[in-house]
Order: sequence, then structure tokens, then C-alpha cells
Amino acid sequence: MLARGDQVRGIDNLSTGKQENIADILDRIDFVERDIIDLDAMRTACAGVDFVLHQAAIPSVPKSVLDPLGSNRANIDGTVNVLVAARDAKVKRVVYAASSSAYGDTPTLPKHEAMSPHPISPYAVAKLASEHYMVSFYRCYGLETVSLRYFNIFGPRQDPSSPYSGVLAKFITLMLRGEQPTIYGDGEQSRDFTYIDNAVDANLLACSAPAVKTAGKVFNIATGRRVALNETFKLLEPLTGYKGQPQYGPERGGDIKHSLADISQAEAALGYKPKVNFEEGLRRTVEWYRGK
Ligand SMILES: NC(=O)c1ccc[n+]([C@@H]2O[C@H](COP(=O)([O-])OP(=O)(O)OC[C@H]3O[C@@H](n4cnc5c(N)ncnc54)[C@H](O)[C@@H]3O)[C@@H](O)[C@H]2O)c1
Repeated sequence: MLARGDQVRGIDNLSTGKQENIADILDRIDFVERDIIDLDAMRTACAGVDFVLHQAAIPSVPKSVLDPLGSNRANIDGTVNVLVAARDAKVKRVVYAASSSAYGDTPTLPKHEAMSPHPISPYAVAKLASEHYMVSFYRCYGLETVSLRYFNIFGPRQDPSSPYSGVLAKFITLMLRGEQPTIYGDGEQSRDFTYIDNAVDANLLACSAPAVKTAGKVFNIATGRRVALNETFKLLEPLTGYKGQPQYGPERGGDIKHSLADISQAEAALGYKPKVNFEEGLRRTVEWYRGK
């Protein structure tokens, strides 16, 4: 957004986010460390704003299983606060970071937006409930909203240290240190891994695409290709210089086997096309972690 000349304001309670991640732009944005649960803070944050890109959440399935109330507060109440503040400030459009977890463990592939959702974890339920709030605020108040269902987003700055981290951040940091990564199950589970720049693109397109095609709607944001963990490990070997084998552990309960998105709706309505493929995304991500 800064690169295209926008004025940017950010609000984050730094619960999982880190200020160091925005250190190089901090002097060019209006950043406040506040909680989206705080309606007054949200009202201040939305004043004079054209677009709200709502990414804040406690983004973890296991955390939500441990603490469903905390997940509900951040991931549903927080969203309603964002929407109320955006509505009252007459924001032009709200774009929401929804989640492919809404699809649950239905075996049908690829996942498309017309399928019935089957969320399993409290996290998935909360992300889906927030999508419904997005639609509701469009239908009831005319606030233009767009929900983007992200599929396994990865890239620089993802925190590999938490037990809740994404698999790629973990694999890359371990393999760069020459340490053995663990694959849970047979490694043939696959994901539609999506490099962060594609998600950023989707957000910017979602702000500008015509309302008639986008407002009150939900779109998959992914690449439309799935890659197995075993294949991912093989791609990472030359990139990281890791020479060993992965360790295989027991399958983890609740893990879905495969994930793959149909992205035709996002292509048609937003003009979205993934610009960075998986291999290039991995290369850029490894480079970033290597430089840390
Ligand atoms: N990474 C993925 O693969 C993925 C997939 C589907 C959906 N999402 C969604 O994308 C969004 C971003 O996730 P991420 O993976 O970048 O995780 P992240 O943890 O890096 O980002 C979430 C941010 O929200 C902030 N936050 C949490 N609760 C808050 C609150 N109450 N008030 C203010 N700020 C708060 C955190 O400090 C953090 O900076 C989330 O909404 C997540 O549900 C991510």
C-alpha cells in the first residue's frame, strides 16, 4: 500500500505480531498498539479511512481448542467491532482475511465457494461466523465487504518458534540450521500453499474490483495447485542445503489430508491470478530466513 502511495494506518495488539516486522516502515505509517476488542480504539482507527483490511485474529486451531472463549472474543467480537466502527466511519469497503478452515474435512477437491462449510475447530467456526457478519453488514447496512478465504499463506516474517507456526516456517528454519524436520503421518498430505504476495495482491484487488461483483461475497485465495509435504521437503533440500532425511511421526488428529482451492471465482470477479508460484515463493522465503 505504501509502495503505491497510499496513506496507511495500522492497529495491532502485538499478541502474535511483532513490531520488528514493520520496523522499516514504522516511520511512514500511523501505527497504534491497540486491541480490536476496544471499540473506541477501532472508531479512532477508522476515522477518515477509505479501506479497512481486517487481518487481525488469533490465527490458531490448537489455541482455539484450548481457549474457545479467547478465540471467540478476538475472532468474532473483534470482527463485529471492526465492522461497526467501519460502518459508522463510512468506510468505503472492508476486506476480511477469512480461512479455508471453514471447509472442514470434506474430502471433495477442489474446494469451491458454493460448497457447504463444515468448520470443525472453534477457530474455523469463528472465522466462518465473521464471514457471515461481513455479508450481514453489506445486506443490512450497505457497507461493502469482501471476504478472502486464504489457503496456507506463507512467506517472510512468519514466526517459526511457536508450536502453532505454519509448517513451512518451521521446516525452513530447522533445515537451514541443519536440524531434522518432523513430518507427521506419511507425508503425502498436501496443501495449496500460497505465497504472501498473492494474498497481498488479492487484498488490493478486493479494494478496487467493482462492488457489483464483489460486495458481500466470499472468494478463495490460493494457487489452485496442491503440493505434498514429501515433495515440499525435496524442494527445500537444495534451497536450504540440508543433507539429512525428515523424521516421520504419528499422524496428528484433526489434520486434514488434502487441501486445494478452486480460484476461478476470484479470477473472474477480482482479476486475481497468483503471480508467485510455490517454488519461487519457497526460494524467496528461504532467502529471507537465511538473511536473519
Ligand atoms: N497464514 C495463513 O495461512 C492463514 C490462513 C487462513 C486465514 N488466515 C488469517 O489471516 C490473518 C492473518 O494471519 P497470519 O497468519 O498473518 O497470523 P499473524 O499471527 O501473523 O497475524 C495476526 C495478527 O493479528 C494480531 N491480533 C490478534 N488479535 C488481535 C486483537 N484482538 N487486536 C488487535 N490485533 C490482534 C496479532 O498480533 C497479529 O499481528 C488472520 O485473520 C488469520 O485468521 C491466515
